[in-house]
Amino acid sequence: MRSSSVEARVEALLAKMTLAEKIGQLWQGHQATSANLEKIRRGEVGSLLNVKAEDMLTCQRAAIEESRLGIPLIIGRDVIHGFHTVAPIPLGQAASFNPSTVRQGARMAAREAAAAGIHWTFTPMVDIARDPRWGRIAESLGEDPYLASILGAAMVRGFQGTDDATPRREGVPPGWENLSEPDSIAACVKHYVGYGAAEGGRDYNTTLIPESELRNVYLPPFLACIEAGAATLMSAFNDLNGIPTSGNVRTLRTILKEEWGFEGFVVSDWASIEEMIAHGYCEDHREAAFKAMRAGVDMEMYSPCYPDHLAALIESGEVPLGWLDDATRRILRVKFHLGLFDRDPATAINPQVSLSEDHRRIAYQSAVESCVLLKNDGLLPLGDRETIALIGPLADAPADQLGCWVPDGRAEDTTTVRTALEKRLGKAKVRFAPGLDYSNQTGQDGFSAALAAAREADKLLVVVGESAWLSGEAHSRAYLELPGSQQALIEALAGLGKPLAVVVMAGRPLVMNRWAAQVNAILWAWHPGTEGGAAIVDLIYGDQSPSGRLPVSFPETVGQVPIYYNKRNTGRPPREGQSGLPIGTPLDPCDFTSRYLDADFHPAYTFGYGLTYTTFVFSPVILSSDEMKPGSTLEARVTITNSGKRAGIAVPQLYLRDRSASLTRPVGELKGFQRIEIAPGESGDVVFEINEDHLRFYNEENQAVVEPGEFHLWIGADARCLLDSPVVFQLKF
Ligand code: GLC
Repeated sequence: MRSSSVEARVEALLAKMTLAEKIGQLWQGHQATSANLEKIRRGEVGSLLNVKAEDMLTCQRAAIEESRLGIPLIIGRDVIHGFHTVAPIPLGQAASFNPSTVRQGARMAAREAAAAGIHWTFTPMVDIARDPRWGRIAESLGEDPYLASILGAAMVRGFQGTDDATPRREGVPPGWENLSEPDSIAACVKHYVGYGAAEGGRDYNTTLIPESELRNVYLPPFLACIEAGAATLMSAFNDLNGIPTSGNVRTLRTILKEEWGFEGFVVSDWASIEEMIAHGYCEDHREAAFKAMRAGVDMEMYSPCYPDHLAALIESGEVPLGWLDDATRRILRVKFHLGLFDRDPATAINPQVSLSEDHRRIAYQSAVESCVLLKNDGLLPLGDRETIALIGPLADAPADQLGCWVPDGRAEDTTTVRTALEKRLGKAKVRFAPGLDYSNQTGQDGFSAALAAAREADKLLVVVGESAWLSGEAHSRAYLELPGSQQALIEALAGLGKPLAVVVMAGRPLVMNRWAAQVNAILWAWHPGTEGGAAIVDLIYGDQSPSGRLPVSFPETVGQVPIYYNKRNTGRPPREGQSGLPIGTPLDPCDFTSRYLDADFHPAYTFGYGLTYTTFVFSPVILSSDEMKPGSTLEARVTITNSGKRAGIAVPQLYLRDRSASLTRPVGELKGFQRIEIAPGESGDVVFEINEDHLRFYNEENQAVVEPGEFHLWIGADARCLLDSPVVFQLKF
């Protein structure tokens, strides 16, 4: 369905365009260089990325006032988790399990970016990530397709200014209704597809994913974002089953455009079209241009294949004019719906929007909900009377606290843990000593000052983890321990025998090793953004209660990776309590199960896990029936009681398993979650409705099917509930 007025304007403009002007729309340049400005004036540029604030108006005016047809540029930028006001990294936001908070964070980012003249952000990133060695797990929404779908769609709505109440408009693609609002920006769901499955967790590496697995695990979040209205999509760097994703006809033209009916446009990731030469899939730029156009990549980011070769490919007939017109149409359609033809580029600019009190509050709330309490022997929350030794290289590290992909975040705007703690207790009651200058520093020169500070204090608060530069694109790690001498620092402090709480700021799960057993409490803060310090201190002192849950499994050791909760059972699942050498022999293979001789097969912390300052008791699950028929629904209900002394937020999670199907299915899959605040001593009922959609999967023929048979269901506090007995129902045709 398309808006007749917009489509009419698109067609009218397309009819006037020369071949060179159409090709110009398909190219995105980097920055407003003088060379790019000249190209803009010649109508050879459709978009720019990474334009400096001071160049915004110049380049847009060059396009509108000095090119023959005056087609505005669409200006893009990586506004990944905030613009000037920075929210936690997306992996941290995923830990909130709160689509409303995630949407608010995207709304905030859109307002600030739009006010700086930006029209388009290269996010949400919904690559399913099961390998914490991969640096870009930080930008992901974790290991679960359902959670990533819900939260990715929330981000799209936040950027594009819609919500569940937004009225549909005849002829306007769903989710595009408010694209032309001055504080909306176009979303770009990425990196399509399978990028997070890079072999060895090494960025840009090969991916081999059967289509049924693509459709059951990696594609659902992209479809959810398209259905939420993502106006654009970014193809990725990885080769998928031997075909680079930026030249992949099956995933782009067939699934995305034909099967899903995607109406926006596809932009390649940075030079990923040209990189098909390095992949060994193309001989040269000309072939790369052909294969990318054949696949349906509408706009080329940065590399020169389209500008240099498309005209010749069209003139030779190798590339049908229809492919070029379709790409041009899609790009113009988004520009018209963004209102770029109907607004003065100067009116959008308004630097006052950034870092408002309201935005700082949104960033603070997002950080509060993102933090996950992994351990607490009762030390937390702290009381205000004690003197605190604040130790660690991330305790007062404003730039690192912002995390990866913050081109517009500023260290000077950040509230660190130190700032917030000294504000709360007064400087006299805080003994600060970093111990190390940065996270991966080796040596122990700063330890004596740290130990001296600790000896003067009643309790110790240590903030460690990863500097921002150890996280994000092209920053994969083969070892997952705390980098540098941080583990030694924690152990030296633990040796003093004083109460010790550790806060970790990191862009991924880390392997704790023995230090976790030596401390009283662990709060995982990811990279918590501009107001992360204030959020952490308020959580540590109980003004806020921890409510985050893990969106990704934490391995016991890197040798377990990839490790994720929604795994398959295998024919020889490991048994609880098994350890050491199998006692069988090849002639009598007992105890031969899928496990390790030298490590547990469970993660250190599982998906969905997170402590609060209270305790919750889940009643057994009550099913409305033990039978389901096609078209019917089933109700699953539990009562959750707050058995502790403080209010808290429970995050009940619904998991389902298809016990036996035409493909082996995971031991459990998240199919629902809720957040419910319960006062001490009170109880709350939680109900989930189950229908066929929850049971559907893609079979070997890549068809979406629902198969009759036995299903298992759990409602639990985290994925460990899958180890308990399920309730069972039958789907009968
Ligand atoms: C980068 C990233 C992509 C980003 C783009 C533009 O290489 O892969 O996520 O949006 O280039 O900066």
